[in-house]
Amino acid sequence: MKRSPVKSVAIIGAGASGAAAAAALAAEDYFDRIRVFERRETPGGTWWVLARSQLPPPLRDLGTHTYSVSNVRIYDPDPGPGPKLTPGADPPETDPPLKIPDGPLPRTTAPSTQERFDRTPIYDTLTTNVPDIAMCFSDCRFPYGPFPPHWVPRHYIESYFSLHRADGLLALSTTLEDLSRIPGSQRWKLTLRRRDSVRHVDMWWEEEFDAVILANGHYSVPFVPKVDGLEEYIRLFPGRVSHSKAFRNALPYHNKKVVVVGNSASGHDVAAALVGAVKGPVYQSRRSRNRFEGDKPPPEVEWKPIIKAFLRSGDILFADGSVLSDVDSVIYCTGYKASFPFWNERANGGSIWDYTQNRLVGSYWHTFFRDFPTLGAIGVPRVLTFRSFEYQAIALARLFAGRNALPLPSRQEQIRWEQERWKLVSSEHRKFHDIIWDNGETMDWLRGLYDFAGLPTLKGHGRFPPVLSDETRWAIEHLRKYEEPGKDDVEEGDWTVVDSRTGRDSLFFI
Ligand SMILES: Cc1cc2nc3c(=O)[nH]c(=O)nc-3n(C[C@H](O)[C@H](O)[C@H](O)COP(=O)(O)OP(=O)(O)OC[C@H]3O[C@@H](n4cnc5c(N)ncnc54)[C@H](O)[C@@H]3O)c2cc1C
Ligand SMILES: NC(=O)c1ccc[n+]([C@@H]2O[C@H](COP(=O)([O-])OP(=O)(O)OC[C@H]3O[C@@H](n4cnc5c(N)ncnc54)[C@H](OP(=O)(O)O)[C@@H]3O)[C@@H](O)[C@H]2O)c1
Repeated sequence: MKRSPVKSVAIIGAGASGAAAAAALAAEDYFDRIRVFERRETPGGTWWVLARSQLPPPLRDLGTHTYSVSNVRIYDPDPGPGPKLTPGADPPETDPPLKIPDGPLPRTTAPSTQERFDRTPIYDTLTTNVPDIAMCFSDCRFPYGPFPPHWVPRHYIESYFSLHRADGLLALSTTLEDLSRIPGSQRWKLTLRRRDSVRHVDMWWEEEFDAVILANGHYSVPFVPKVDGLEEYIRLFPGRVSHSKAFRNALPYHNKKVVVVGNSASGHDVAAALVGAVKGPVYQSRRSRNRFEGDKPPPEVEWKPIIKAFLRSGDILFADGSVLSDVDSVIYCTGYKASFPFWNERANGGSIWDYTQNRLVGSYWHTFFRDFPTLGAIGVPRVLTFRSFEYQAIALARLFAGRNALPLPSRQEQIRWEQERWKLVSSEHRKFHDIIWDNGETMDWLRGLYDFAGLPTLKGHGRFPPVLSDETRWAIEHLRKYEEPGKDDVEEGDWTVVDSRTGRDSLFFI
């Protein structure tokens, strides 16, 4: 077999995707150098919390109100005003590249103060929403399930690096600020910045690698839609409008009039956490239905349609003509946008993300890049999370080690795949990287990665791509964190077994 020229690999990000990548690369026992660059102080990614402490019980009882504030408090309990919100703006505007210092590197500079959106989105009451058997990696279960609290995946990810002896590969507090292909080669130059919190400086340096895996996540930069008058409203009423990324618990909203915008996982959880704490009902502005809701709102929640305009008076006008006055807080739970500020468009011949079509540029199978054979991405599709990352990671490790069982399709076929996928998702009004469970698309996608990766060598180098057992697939289709009203639900303590399918995909809640 021809030996692969790839001997060094950089992984960007030490969340679940980075952990899967590090484990898969280490198992190949082929590479001379593997480094995992992570801008935070520890691994964990989305699930990052530094520590937690117990809240004394009296803090949970304010006046006559007792409401659902967990007694476990996260380390990052005060997100301050939260990130600056720019309605309708995409990350190239809100999360621009950091200026690389002039002159030769390495060097130190004054610490950068530019917003990097690296704070946690975790709130006190967050629990996982995918049954543990299907969410965890195949070779290690969560300590308990099926829907454990947020600190379980956080500790799990950190231990997973150690389980695979990949903890020594971590370069923490280190941000990739520039990724450029080295002219005339398939190699990469990384410009890195590490915050030295003892000397209060940023240290800058460069490293070169044969291949790079992007595992940088896509739930960091909050998205807020453009709405008439919203930009001015944010200016006129500082602090009134925030994003769910900065939500921690109901305490700051005690006795306030609050509007929650959005009806997906964050909108649901934030509204539920506010019930009983706020003044009057929680107003929830919804664009579409949520599978967990019945025909009428839960007690103490009032549904509103989408917001038509924010008025200078402070009033909020909704699409049905109704108006809310004296609103104290508006919490946008409208999701996130992928961001790649380190991607050097000039050096790499174009952008990596298309913000009009919300997708990777020139990707194949949501993982490979036809113009960049030494680049891979893990974690972009909206589908099973940790478990899918494992298939992607093993496929990339096999590819870079030159041990993949099947070749990648020709460039022409990769282009055809991208075009046909775009046609399909456009006709079905869904996003390019949203992969459906119920029609078999997820299994086909995973099977593609599974077949491509193949088996480890006879000497045991490389990881087996995982199986997705009957039990796991049953859990995906039947185990729910919340009841689905009107369905044949059987409550089992703090989770629910659903018997019937609904019009929406089994994995829609991811
Ligand atoms: C509020 C919330 C709740 C969620 N709940 C669930 C759930 O219940 N179940 C589920 O399966 N999924 C859930 N998700 C999705 C979650 O994002 C995935 O489970 C998973 O953690 C994603 O892992 P990742 O490694 O791909 O990305 P991330 O976890 O985002 O990790 C990416 C890492 O890359 C680092 N990074 C980014 N840019 C750079 C850079 N330039 N240099 C160095 N490091 C960088 C980041 O600091 C981060 O640590 C939730 C997401 C959110 C926002
Ligand atoms: N473990 C958990 O329980 C948990 C909790 C929170 C988040 N998460 C995960 O975190 C990720 C992000 O979830 P999220 O809820 O923050 O974001 P999201 O799933 O992307 O949902 C965004 C919400 O905002 C609405 N929206 C978007 N643009 C809008 C506009 N212009 N006007 C009105 N509404 C608009 C969407 O409505 P439409 O549906 O009509 O588009 C949707 O309800 C998901 O993977 C989710 O599973 C998990």
